Amino acid sequence: MARVTRDYIKSLPKAELHMHLEGSLEPELMFQLAERNKIKLRFKSIEEVKKAYKFKDLQSFLDIYYEGANVLRRSEDFYDLTTAYLQRCMDDGIDHVEPFFDPQTHLARGVGLEVQLEGIGAALRDAGSRWGISSGLILCILRHLPPEEGMQLYQLARPMIGEFIGIGLDSSELNHPPRKFSHIYEAARADGLKLVAHAGEEGPPTYVWEALQMLKVQRIDHGVQALNDNKLVEHLINQQIPLTVCPNSNVRLKVFEKMCDHPILQMLDQGMNVSINSDDPAYFGGYLVDNFMEVDKALEMSRKHAALLARNSITAAFLDPQRKAQLLARLPLEEIRS
Ligand code: HPA
Ligand code: ZN
Repeated sequence: MARVTRDYIKSLPKAELHMHLEGSLEPELMFQLAERNKIKLRFKSIEEVKKAYKFKDLQSFLDIYYEGANVLRRSEDFYDLTTAYLQRCMDDGIDHVEPFFDPQTHLARGVGLEVQLEGIGAALRDAGSRWGISSGLILCILRHLPPEEGMQLYQLARPMIGEFIGIGLDSSELNHPPRKFSHIYEAARADGLKLVAHAGEEGPPTYVWEALQMLKVQRIDHGVQALNDNKLVEHLINQQIPLTVCPNSNVRLKVFEKMCDHPILQMLDQGMNVSINSDDPAYFGGYLVDNFMEVDKALEMSRKHAALLARNSITAAFLDPQRKAQLLARLPLEEIRS
């Protein structure tokens, strides 16, 4: 079996479909922005910040992730954050990105949606012209907040609908089932937006069913808990519903104890439409290619596996057929057919 190398993964055409911009805030940039905005951090050094990144579950991570986002105040901050991520994409050979952002986190601190979108949008456009990276931004609703507030956000965002391609649902999953948000998804669908939602990260398979049947999402973010429901697995395979899986995230948040326990390659071998993504790369130990290499280290990834994962990332992307075809044409067909 031909194993992957870092250069091999970099050379494949790829899209990243599950990455939270706030989760790409590296401690170095956190300190720079804190200084720029005269914000006092409770950490004295970068090492101290990194030491705090020990999580026992999703909630313990989210607490520190929202704290970090506090340094983002001006449109330049959002520009710098997004550009730093896109530079990593460039280094990793990523062709297309569909990043998430959490407007409610920033609105709560008095940072307007226009301010957020101005910085993020300019960075995405610049990466397009400078590096040829195409993109579509996904606005996420925080599920730990009341659905009424999610709807208020959606109404606020509506006049700026040209700035994003779809909506997502993130934050604390347990006790916040997708069905609570179905009216927002209905409105977004009527407006022609793409629909995705986090489901089955820590939550039960019923949340994945709800996201599919009540929110009518086109992709599931995470979805690994689906493996506890055979009927659901069968449905996901038959319908080829994409799951954006995040191996490093799952291990750091103790969804699986060790990478050797991660089912990503089994899911792929079973015919599920899975891709690899970095989720919150500054918090979970690395970017997209790092995630591929961690999986390889623990589970031995063949070149065929890697090519199929890259193919799935492109077929699952919200891209026009022409760009999709252009990217798919760069896949090593001999590996895929082997
Ligand atoms: N799950 C839910 N919400 C999130 C995550 C995640 O992995 N990362 C950032 N927000
Ligand atoms: Zn996520």
